[in-house]
Amino acid sequence: MSEQPGIIITIDGPSGVGKSTISRKVAAELGLTYLDTGAMYRAVALYLQSHACDIEDAPGVEEALEDITIDLRPAATEDHDVGVLLNTADVSGLIRTPDISMLASRVSAIPAVRTKLTGLQQAIGEKGGIVAEGRDTGTVVFPAAQFKFFLDATPDERVRRRSAQMRARGEQVDEEALLAMNKARDKQDSERAVAPLKKADDAVLIDTTGLTIDQVLARIIGAIRK
Ligand code: DC
Repeated sequence: MSEQPGIIITIDGPSGVGKSTISRKVAAELGLTYLDTGAMYRAVALYLQSHACDIEDAPGVEEALEDITIDLRPAATEDHDVGVLLNTADVSGLIRTPDISMLASRVSAIPAVRTKLTGLQQAIGEKGGIVAEGRDTGTVVFPAAQFKFFLDATPDERVRRRSAQMRARGEQVDEEALLAMNKARDKQDSERAVAPLKKADDAVLIDTTGLTIDQVLARIIGAIRK
């Protein structure tokens, strides 16, 4: 049972800062639903890629958006933070490739995509009881959220964490490529015209460099329960 059924908590920040792990744990600790907004941008990117849709073709993208339904579920396995259904197909793993990370970042700058996904996210959060994670959840999607956090960490630390996560899954890691990709994504996500990556004025900034997951979790839960 949730401690506060109507509550909305937002956790934003740059790529690879650990938002997904932390947000999922905050949600579990407080009995709330975890809303991974990035997974939705990834699902749209996968759809456009698999339908060979040119993302520069605005009318084409808008038409494609009408055919897309996205459902988020609790993850079926420990391999993922969330289960993602794209038009009923389970794409939880397919959306986590480096290609889709970059494409999701580009696709997320398209105003029609943001309008559709922001609407879906607000509908999911309508009754509250959620921990929303992304780039603009505290600024645009849920500006009236009761608790807002912005996680940051140095680029090197973010790469170290992501590499460790990938190695634990048996994946190969090229740390330099990862650093370059994070940098490119953060630039793209911060500089876009609509709903850029940005700390909300009323969000609590947590520099997670040098902190463990449990320490970050304790700070967030502590701030909420205070
Ligand atoms: O959090 P993530 O890495 O799964 O997000 C993938 C991309 O989606 C990210 O590079 C930018 C975009 N995104 C966004 O624009 N707004 C959000 N609220 C969440 C993600």
